[in-house]
Amino acid sequence: MIGRVRSQTSEASKFIVDWMEHRTGIVTILEHALYEPVPKRGTWLYTLGSATLLLISLQFLTGILLLFYYVPTTTEAWNSVYYIMNEAYFGQLIRGIHYWSANFLMATIGLHMARTFFSGAYKSPRELNWIIGVILLLLVVGLSFTGYLLRWDQDGFWASVVGIKIGSYSPFVGGYITHFLVGGDTIGPATLSRFFAIHVWLLPAAIAPFIGIHLYLLRRHGEFGSDIEYTDRLSKLRERQRMEEYDRYELEEDGHDENGRDRE
Ligand code: HEM
Repeated sequence: MIGRVRSQTSEASKFIVDWMEHRTGIVTILEHALYEPVPKRGTWLYTLGSATLLLISLQFLTGILLLFYYVPTTTEAWNSVYYIMNEAYFGQLIRGIHYWSANFLMATIGLHMARTFFSGAYKSPRELNWIIGVILLLLVVGLSFTGYLLRWDQDGFWASVVGIKIGSYSPFVGGYITHFLVGGDTIGPATLSRFFAIHVWLLPAAIAPFIGIHLYLLRRHGEFGSDIEYTDRLSKLRERQRMEEYDRYELEEDGHDENGRDRE
């Protein structure tokens, strides 16, 4: 009984997938978009970039949800975070995911960077992708730094004081950066507004196109070390598409419609 149900379910799902593929080409599109051959050795290490992508997407999603309640003013910021944690539906869960995913994100970026470095994936022609990666790393560090002040508690406040102080010692630009970030002589309402704008608008808007370029370049060159497999896979895919096209043509020539039924 269970076996029959299982085989009927698999028949039905096969029918749906074929039906969709025939009308929209969705399976081929997904195959092109999601399939990325990697070298046989160390396969799991090649998931670190995707893990980073997943975590940063989670950050965007939970960040948008937090904005429903967060108020970026010195009088209300802490209270709004308190409200999110104790009153808002799923507030604790969503803030928890935002917090933990930010931490894991730093870890996965570090590991992903180490993998690309030790496998030599930064070498020509992928050096530009390495540079884009470094820019992404700096932008993500910027997100972590600016996010910390937003809770407006003692931890976030003093960590930001220390961070800004360290930045102020940078040669030539230190003074300008400090002035730009603090928006006055001491950390206060202007600083919170600026950190909020940078955390919520500026950095996410900058990160999104760089991720796009990063993935485009990855697709252009393929994973380092799998060039031969990649070309091989693409030629197999093209061959399959050519055969399917031919079958369809044959059926139509024999007076059948695209589903193999006789034409009226
Ligand atoms: C927001 C941060 C980042 C995201 C979302 C991201 C995403 C990805 C993804 C999905 C891949 C393909 C899968 C993989 O190889 O793991 C990849 C490949 C790559 N990434 Fe990143 N990455 C980020 C940061 C970085 C950083 C910081 C570096 C180095 C400085 C870097 C350098 C590279 C290189 C060189 C490749 C090509 C790997 C190869 O051809 O073998 N990425 N990245």
